Amino acid sequence: MTDLAADGLTLQPVAGSPRLRADSDGRSQVLHPHWLRERSEEPDAIDQGNKQRLFAPADLPPDLHATDVRPAAGATIVVWSDGHTQSVDHAMLARELGWANDPNSPPGRKSWVGQLDPFPHFSLPAADDDDVMRAILEAFWIHGFAILTDTATEAGSLDGIASQFGEIRDTNFGRLFDVFSKPDPIDLAYTPIELKAHTDNPYRAPVPGIQFLHCLVNDSSGGESTLVDGLAAFEEMGELDPEGRDVLACTPVTFRYEFGTERMQARASIFETDAAGGFVGIRNSDRLDFVDPVDPDTLDVFYRARRTLRTLLDQPERRAQFLLEPGHVMMMDNRRLLHGRTAYSLTEGHRHLQGCYIDHDGPDQGWRAIAARSRS
Ligand SMILES: [Fe+2]
Repeated sequence: MTDLAADGLTLQPVAGSPRLRADSDGRSQVLHPHWLRERSEEPDAIDQGNKQRLFAPADLPPDLHATDVRPAAGATIVVWSDGHTQSVDHAMLARELGWANDPNSPPGRKSWVGQLDPFPHFSLPAADDDDVMRAILEAFWIHGFAILTDTATEAGSLDGIASQFGEIRDTNFGRLFDVFSKPDPIDLAYTPIELKAHTDNPYRAPVPGIQFLHCLVNDSSGGESTLVDGLAAFEEMGELDPEGRDVLACTPVTFRYEFGTERMQARASIFETDAAGGFVGIRNSDRLDFVDPVDPDTLDVFYRARRTLRTLLDQPERRAQFLLEPGHVMMMDNRRLLHGRTAYSLTEGHRHLQGCYIDHDGPDQGWRAIAARSRS
């Protein structure tokens, strides 16, 4: 998709109908008059500063139609039956129809399996350079993670590191949480046992979007970090068991966390999909999930699919496995990737990580700001 879609675009009325038709380079789309009218960018339609609408689309007359349509440079002028005149910018229309890329949008995801080569690690002190920050964010958007290196190893320094990417989201585990073995742990993360591929906090609504894990000390044996791509597992499930994948996307599950007086729960499906059935995210923590009492035939499929998914997620060849060294920070998409770690020894050395969460809007805004600067 290029801006060529805008260059050759035409917009004209559909004879005998209030609708209009956009054409460009062999593509054609009939447009509802309200769909087009509510995208008006005229000064009496939207605030020119904050781009918010100055009218309520629900108040438009139901029989709205164009009374005049004429071409202009890079646009089409549409006069509407309610008296509004709208210059429809062809570049805007091509983007809205999906015929051209938004030049400021982050890159799309690419599924992956196994160790990535080259491995996406970047020296963080250079992140005040737009090119380096862009490379970090590009890896994050495409692969779902990036490893930042050469950071401080003082406890608490993750606050400043993660804040370069977005607002830190506080939880009951704290603004920053420590990951090391402790007695009476409130979560199995705080023990030395192996942690299989999982997503964090599926019992929250919404789940934390992005997790940072900052390695302060890691000189025990074992304790390697693991990542698995939930998008790749979703795609593989579509090949192996499409019916099961649909059931995992449609069947409500309660994810529950209880410790002492704290209780949190959220009801969601294991796979989150969009209206077209595409992958949006995955919640997976098989220590915390309780499926709804739907009919046993559906549960047969659900349990079959969950076994298949677990088998996929546990395949060693599917995971990226690496040792986080002191000063390394893993930044990973908690809605897309699953993370885990191998077991480690409590008798040799010490392992101490700190973590925190941010949401996706931080890296999204960061990417858009860099993209806009690069074109100015
Ligand atoms: Fe975790």
